[in-house]
Amino acid sequence: MRKQIAAANWKMNCTFQQGEKLLDEILGAEIPLADHQLTIFAVPFPYLLMTRSEVEEEWNYNVAAQNCHHKKSGAYTGEVSAEMLHSMNIRYCVVGHSERREYNQETNAMLADKVNLCFENFITPIFCCGEPLNIREAGTQNDFVSAQLKESLFHLGADKIKTIIIAYEPIWAIGTGKTATTEQAQEIHQYLRSVLAAQYGDVVANEIPILYGGSVKANNAKELFSCPDVDGGLVGGASLVAAEFIEIIKALK
Ligand code: PGA
Repeated sequence: MRKQIAAANWKMNCTFQQGEKLLDEILGAEIPLADHQLTIFAVPFPYLLMTRSEVEEEWNYNVAAQNCHHKKSGAYTGEVSAEMLHSMNIRYCVVGHSERREYNQETNAMLADKVNLCFENFITPIFCCGEPLNIREAGTQNDFVSAQLKESLFHLGADKIKTIIIAYEPIWAIGTGKTATTEQAQEIHQYLRSVLAAQYGDVVANEIPILYGGSVKANNAKELFSCPDVDGGLVGGASLVAAEFIEIIKALK
């Protein structure tokens, strides 16, 4: 079975102490994960080592960075490279979250560079795509998201892309309390998988987890994750509340 993933995206939230407490509460629930299930905590850079050591003993619990820079190294004050993450044994990194695309002007071409640097450093990218409200209202979301995949990922060989994680996050559903309906989620996830299949074949496309993101909560996770092409979620707000995220992990297929 394809990997099913509950990924927490803390964004710029929690003090160090609050983060430790949150992890203790979630891990304290001792939710056993099957071989095909994975929980990942994408935490702020200063909390990576603490989180890594919290999850070290836990089967299929892992840690991710929320970003890395698109250049290998150099005079980029305040930035963090994929190589630095690798040197700290960090194996996952969120790439191209819509907030970074918007507030940090990250382009599809820059994200292609980030994805390459992740792979060079043995880091699995959690690659985010998704359309803004005006595109959804115009009904052109399929073209929009397939261009994001093509311009940032389709230079990759099949051996690399089959190990990636994709997160589809409609921007109009992020932090708004508005969720895509299960029909909307399944429809676009299936479309994304067909775009991957057209380029790489069915076998590769069927191996790639596609997570849904955008106001995933304890009370809608099970229904969203039950869609055949939804392989879990990338969760912002609800990942900051232990009781919520625990239920989201339990909702994995
Ligand atoms: P949200 O955020 O769950 O708060 O909508 C999701 C995300 O941005 O990853």
